Amino acid sequence: MKIAIYPGTFDPITNGHLDILERAIKLFDKVIITVARNSAKNPMFTEEERLDMIRTAVRRYKKVEVDSFTGLVVDYARRKKATAIVRGLRAISDFEYEMQMALMNRNLNDEVETVFLMPNEKYTYLNSSIVREIAIHKGNVKNFVPPNVYRKLKQKTSSQ
Ligand code: COA
Repeated sequence: MKIAIYPGTFDPITNGHLDILERAIKLFDKVIITVARNSAKNPMFTEEERLDMIRTAVRRYKKVEVDSFTGLVVDYARRKKATAIVRGLRAISDFEYEMQMALMNRNLNDEVETVFLMPNEKYTYLNSSIVREIAIHKGNVKNFVPPNVYRKLKQKTSSQ
């Protein structure tokens, strides 16, 4: 069984992340989408909120599991018997950071490969902080996130 993990902060999950996930599903028997708990970021949504949003957004995919982790991503991959880490590459600007992480992860554990997937070009400019910012300023993010995330963003930003 070929298992991959798809790690990230997912604050919140966007249609761009789902695009990558759908591509990964075609390549692996199981994909574990997993929220990194030790991110240096200061997230808008709690870990539980992010997990809830992901669970609802990926409910229709049979081969997907939702989880969270602390510590090194390669150690988590080993615990989950995963042979690959899936990452999205949206533009050249992602490349340097992603290559650095991939090579460091390989150095830490040579048995886990990083697999880069490119999202549909309509998502290349999308990221979670842009979505959060638009939502905070009451812009429309309906086309960028799954419906449950859209509702949650509206709720979260209505009092701000
Ligand atoms: N669609 C939309 N947005 C996307 C995207 C896509 N397909 N792919 C990436 N992004 C965006 C995210 O929304 C996020 O945007 P933001 O910064 O505006 O919030 C940004 O790209 C990158 O975020 P993400 O993919 O969530 O990665 P990250 O950099 O937050 O986290 C981890 C990377 C969790 C994988 C990494 O920090 C990690 O492995 N941590 C564990 C500790 C460890 O092992 N460290 C050593 C690594 S060498």
